[in-house]
Amino acid sequence: MSGTTTAGTPAATDEPVVELRGVHVVFKARTGTLFRANRVHAVDDVSVQVRRGRTLGIVGESGSGKSTMAKVLVGLQVPTSGEVRFRGAAVRSYTPRVRREVGRVVSVVFQDPATALNARMRVREALRDPLDVHRVGTPATRAARVRELTHLVGLPTSVLDALPGQLSGGQRQRVAIARALALEPDVIVADEPTSALDVSVRAQILNLLADLKNELGLGMVFISHDIQTVRHVSDEIVVMRSGRIVESGPAAHVLDDPQHEYTRTLLAAAPALL
Ligand SMILES: Nc1ncnc2c1ncn2[C@@H]1O[C@H](COP(=O)(O)OP(=O)(O)O)[C@@H](O)[C@H]1O
Ligand SMILES: [Mg+2]
Repeated sequence: MSGTTTAGTPAATDEPVVELRGVHVVFKARTGTLFRANRVHAVDDVSVQVRRGRTLGIVGESGSGKSTMAKVLVGLQVPTSGEVRFRGAAVRSYTPRVRREVGRVVSVVFQDPATALNARMRVREALRDPLDVHRVGTPATRAARVRELTHLVGLPTSVLDALPGQLSGGQRQRVAIARALALEPDVIVADEPTSALDVSVRAQILNLLADLKNELGLGMVFISHDIQTVRHVSDEIVVMRSGRIVESGPAAHVLDDPQHEYTRTLLAAAPALL
C-alpha cells in the first residue's frame, strides 16, 4: 500500500476504495464457558465494494451484523477470515500505520453523536482535533478548515464555542459529520446516523449526507434497520440477516422487486415515513 495518494483524488476511477471479499467475523460470545465457548458468527461470508460517488445501503434487523461490517470497512475490526482490500490492495496486517491510513480515507459517523463527541471538548476543538492529530497544515489553515467544515454541514460559526451538551441532537450529529469530513475522506460509513434523532430532524440529516456525497463525490455506506430510510439515499442495497447477505443489487430492483422473503418482510414491517 503506497499511502501517498491524498484524499480528493478524482471521483472517476471505478476501483473500489474499500472492498470485502468473503469476510467472516466470529466473536466468542460473552456467555461462553471455558470448555464450550459459544461463538457468534457476526459476519458470514460477506463481499461488498464501496466506490466514490456511490451510496451503498446496508439494511437488516438489529443483530444482523451491520455494525460489525461497518467496523471492518473502517479498519476498526479485523476479520476472522476473508480479505479486505483497500485502494486495490489486500490489507495483510493491521499495523497502526495501516489503521491510520484506512481511518483517514474511510471515516465513520455513529448512531449517537452524544457519545461520539467528547462532552468536555468545545466544537472548535472537536473539529480541529483530527487535523492536529494528523498534523494537517498550519494553525492558521486548521482554523480556516474548521470554519469551512462548519459551513459545509450547515451550522453557524457561533456553535464553535459551544459544548456538545449545549446543542440539539441534530446539531450534534452535524458536528459529528463535520468531524468525519475533516481529513477529506473518500468514503463515509454512517451507521444508523438518524436512529437516535427526533423524527423531525431525520430528513434534514439524511438530506445533508446526500448533498455532501454529491458535492464532494464521496462514497457513502448508509446503514439502517429501517429499509425506508435506506431506500431514500442508496444506489445499491444489501440486505443482511444473521451476518449473511440475503439479497443485493441496485436499490430500485431490491425494493420494487424483492426476490427474498426476508426483504419482503422488512418492507412490509416498515412504515413508509422516511
Ligand atoms: N464485540 C463483540 N463480542 C461478542 N459479540 C458481538 C460483539 N459485537 C457484536 N457482537 C454480536 O454480533 C452480532 C452482530 O452484531 P452487530 O454487528 O452489532 O449487529 P447490528 O449492527 O446489525 O445490530 C450480534 O449477535 C452481537 O451480539
Ligand atoms: Mg448496529
